[in-house]
Amino acid sequence: KYSQPIVGGNWKCNPASHSTLPTLVSNFEGVADYLSDCDVYVCPSNLHVSLVKDSFVPGISVAPQNCNFGGCGAYTGEMAVDQIKDLGLDTVLIGHSERRGEFGLPTPKESNELMATKLKYILDQGLKCVFCIGEPLPVREKGIEAVVEECTKQLEDIVPILKELEDKSRVVIAYEPVWAIGTGVTASPSQAQETHSALRSWIATAVDAKTAEGIRIQYGGSANAGNAKELSEMDDIDGFLVGGASLKPEIVDIVKALM
Ligand code: G3H
Repeated sequence: KYSQPIVGGNWKCNPASHSTLPTLVSNFEGVADYLSDCDVYVCPSNLHVSLVKDSFVPGISVAPQNCNFGGCGAYTGEMAVDQIKDLGLDTVLIGHSERRGEFGLPTPKESNELMATKLKYILDQGLKCVFCIGEPLPVREKGIEAVVEECTKQLEDIVPILKELEDKSRVVIAYEPVWAIGTGVTASPSQAQETHSALRSWIATAVDAKTAEGIRIQYGGSANAGNAKELSEMDDIDGFLVGGASLKPEIVDIVKALM
């Protein structure tokens, strides 16, 4: 493995009632034993960030699921990095396929170019960022070359930013094949490894070897306690971005699988 593994729990637009937040938070208690060997962050819905930000065992960070690209001001429904920092949070997730648009194809509003603007803004403000990429099913069906082409298209605009980044651990790439998200169909360990390794090689050429070695690439898409062990044995899988299973006690087993 290149670096310390990292696991994220993305609660997406859950839970329906804030009264269940304490239960969801308590699912992460067992993670405490592994925090010296694995970074862990949780992405609650925007409404719930403030309610849970001080509830987790120390060492787990709370990371909003999105941010805007320009600071405070006339951005109805958005959150600025300045506000995220002000709450004492140090990480934000961007570019999730559910934000980029249906089937993972970037819409004009959540384009690759906008993702680069957001990433620069986040890093300039001193925060860390989880940067999501992934291909829809029709692209996967064309084979690995098409997958790598699609994913690297989503990375091209951030190459200059990664080149300048001193501490490579501040950006984590979450590779999430769109067809595996919430479907129960996980990428096989070899499929995921092949893609992660191709992405790392691409980064080595497009950015530099230091970035390729230092940047962590998480796998996301129906990761759970049953498949985490096998996936985590793959050389280029540095952790998981977990959706559905992060709402359940099995999140602890997913972290444990990386130990
Ligand atoms: O952000 C998390 C991913 O979209 C994965 O979700 O584990 O429910 O498939 P999932």
